[in-house]
Amino acid sequence: MWGVDSGPVMMVAVHFCKTSHEGGYSMAQEKIAVLVGSLRKESFSRKMAKALMKLATSSLSLEIIEIGELPLYNQDLDDTGNPPSAWTEFRERLKKFDGVLFVTPEYNRSVPGVLKNAIDVGSRPYGKSAWAGKPGAVVSVSPGAIGGFGANHHLRQSMVFLDMPAMQQPEAYIGNAKDLFNERGDLANDSPREFVTKFMQAFAAWVETNIARKR
Ligand code: FNR
Repeated sequence: MWGVDSGPVMMVAVHFCKTSHEGGYSMAQEKIAVLVGSLRKESFSRKMAKALMKLATSSLSLEIIEIGELPLYNQDLDDTGNPPSAWTEFRERLKKFDGVLFVTPEYNRSVPGVLKNAIDVGSRPYGKSAWAGKPGAVVSVSPGAIGGFGANHHLRQSMVFLDMPAMQQPEAYIGNAKDLFNERGDLANDSPREFVTKFMQAFAAWVETNIARKR
């Protein structure tokens, strides 16, 4: 199951800034945090995240932010002003990014706990959410045929509450993930590569549009 394509991909708007070179201009890159909802060594979601990063437009600079070592969220630790350093570092790090790309499996028709925990950690203390206003997109990945639809839409539900503008189209429900990657972990065929390229073009435009709105 692939995403539903609503029409032609939007043009990717880029903006330019002066470089340190005299009179030179270079393309400004938007910084995107990539969160992967699986800790599995051979994770299909992580392979897909890497494919998305590889095929992204040059207007985006993408980086995977690891979430596996974040202690489970406990509000007492925030309320007593004693949050674990891993939470604080994660929150501060996230704040430096312009947008977020979630790439996740589906667990029991919902978001895996490790990703939900990261979302909860980043959303607190109250009023200081690291997610607020950041444009985002969701790619769900599954060896099954439904492509992680449940996880994808539960994540979108959280994004509404977190005030993260979520890209609507193209949707990405990546099914039959076992057949997608070669032995090097790269996308093996043209059709998924084309979809991923289009998805990342649309995401770059989505990020640019939403950031321009804030400026
Ligand atoms: C799964 N899996 C799964 N798959 C799916 O399409 N829908 C689901 O609801 C579930 N539920 C589920 C629960 C739990 C606890 C596990 C461990 C697995 C299967 C899952 O898609 C498969 O293990 C993927 O390979 C996990 O993604 P990564 O690790 O390959 O990215």
